[in-house]
Amino acid sequence: MQQVKKISVVGLGKLGLCTAACFASKGFKVIGVDVDIDKINKINKALTPIIETDLAELLKKSIKNLKATSDYDEAILNSDVTFIVVATPSLADGSFSNEYLEKAVHKIAESLKKKKGYHVVVVTSTVMPQTTETVVKYVLEKVSGKKCGKDFGLAYNPEFIALGSVIHDFLNPDMLLIGEANKVDGDILEYIYKKTCDNNPYFARMSPVNAEITKISLNCYITTKITFANSLSQVCEKVKGADAYVISTALGMDSRIGSKYIRPGLGYGGPCFPRDNQAFACFARLMETQAKLAEKVDEVNRDQVTRVLDRINDSLANSKSKKSKKRIAVLGLSYKPNTPIIEDSQALNIAHMLVNEGYIVSVYDPQAMENARGVLGDAVGYAKNAQECVSGADLTVLAVPWQEFKKINFKKAGKDMIILDCWQFFSDKDGISLKSLGKG
Ligand SMILES: NC(=O)c1ccc[n+]([C@@H]2O[C@H](COP(=O)([O-])OP(=O)(O)OC[C@H]3O[C@@H](n4cnc5c(N)ncnc54)[C@H](O)[C@@H]3O)[C@@H](O)[C@H]2O)c1
Repeated sequence: MQQVKKISVVGLGKLGLCTAACFASKGFKVIGVDVDIDKINKINKALTPIIETDLAELLKKSIKNLKATSDYDEAILNSDVTFIVVATPSLADGSFSNEYLEKAVHKIAESLKKKKGYHVVVVTSTVMPQTTETVVKYVLEKVSGKKCGKDFGLAYNPEFIALGSVIHDFLNPDMLLIGEANKVDGDILEYIYKKTCDNNPYFARMSPVNAEITKISLNCYITTKITFANSLSQVCEKVKGADAYVISTALGMDSRIGSKYIRPGLGYGGPCFPRDNQAFACFARLMETQAKLAEKVDEVNRDQVTRVLDRINDSLANSKSKKSKKRIAVLGLSYKPNTPIIEDSQALNIAHMLVNEGYIVSVYDPQAMENARGVLGDAVGYAKNAQECVSGADLTVLAVPWQEFKKINFKKAGKDMIILDCWQFFSDKDGISLKSLGKG
C-alpha cells in the first residue's frame, strides 16, 4: 500500500478547512485550494476565516504543515490524494447542485493530465447518489485523458461531523464511510484515517453508490428519529400530566432505540439534516419510486413552528391588549447552540412568524445576531444581551438552549411574563409562568 504523506484539500470552508487542519496536525503535508483569495491569505497567516471550536488553535499548531493556494497545479502535482470539499447547494427539487463540484473536478483533471504517478481523487462533498461514478469519474477521464483504476483512483468519503464539534468529530468518528472505485483507493484512505483518528473507528468499505446512499440515508434516519420525538411531544401536550421528556428518556434506554436524537424540542434545522432528508426523497423520485416516510418527516418538521405559534397565541389569548401591543422575546436564533449559523433555523422562522402575526418581537443570540440581521432586517428589535431581550416582555420563547440563558434573572425581567420553553431547559421559577413543549 502507498504510504501517503501529501494531501490536498479543495474547498476550505466549514468542513474543508477543518479537514485540512486535522490532517496537517497529524503530520501530513497539506495543500489547501480555494477560489476565495481573502480566505487563502488569512489561512496562510494561521488565522481562521470561520468560527469553529478548536480550529484557531489547531491551525496555529499545524500551519507548518499547511499551505493554502488558488493554484490547482501546485496542489495536485505536490500531493498523492485530493479531497474535494466544495459546497453542493440544494436545488428547488431537493437534489444537490454539482456546479462547484464540476468546476473543481475539471480543474483537478487538467492538473492530473500533467501528473505522473497514481493520484487518488476523493469526493467528500455531499452528492446525489451515482454522482461519483457518472459525473466525477466521467469528467476526470474525459479531461485528463487518463483511466480510473489504472492512472488515478477515485472514492466517495463523506463526513458525519456536526458544526460546533467538527474537529472532535473528525478525529473521533464512529464510522468511516469509504465508497471505493478500486480496492487500493480504499486501502489508501484507510491508511490516512488510521494515522489521523484519535479513536479506532469502524471502516465501512463499499462501492461509491452504496456510500452515497448510506450518507443521505443516515441523516434521513436521524431526522426521522427527531421527528418521532416531536410527534410524541405533540401528543403528550394534549394529555394532562404527560411529559414527553420523561417518556423519551425511557425510550432511549432501550438499546434497540438508543438515547441520541430522541429528545423532543423544536424541529431540526441547519445546513445538513433538512437538505439530506429532502435529497433522499428527491433521489427516490428520480428513481421513479417514493420515499413517503422522508417526505412526511419533512412535512412534520416544517409544522413545528406553527405548533409553537399556536402555543404562543393560546398563552396570550386571555390578555386584553392587542397583539400589536404585546412584546415577545425570542431567545436564540441559530439553528442550534454554539454556532452563528442560521441556515434553516427553526428559531429564526419563529421570529419571522411572530412578526407576521403582528407581535412586537425582540431577539437575542450570543453569536448569530449579525447573520440574523441580514434576514430579519428592521422587523425585530435586537437586544444587547439576553437580560435586555426578555426585560418587560409579555412572553419569552426559549428557542435555542444556549447555556448562558440559564443566567437570566426572570424575576427582574417582569413578574407576569410567560416563558415558553421549547427544550425543557429552565426549571420552574417562582412567580413565573413556565410552559414547556411536550408537557400536558
Ligand atoms: N458544514 C457541514 O456541517 C457539513 C457536514 C457534512 C458534509 N458537508 C458537505 O461538505 C461540503 C462542503 O460544505 P461546507 O459547509 O464546508 O461548505 P462551505 O460553503 O463552507 O465551503 C465551501 C468552500 O469551497 C470553496 N470553493 C467553491 N468553489 C471552489 C472551487 N471551484 N475550487 C476551490 N474551492 C472552491 C468556497 O470558496 C468555500 O470556501 C458540502 O457538500 C456539504 O454538504 C458539510
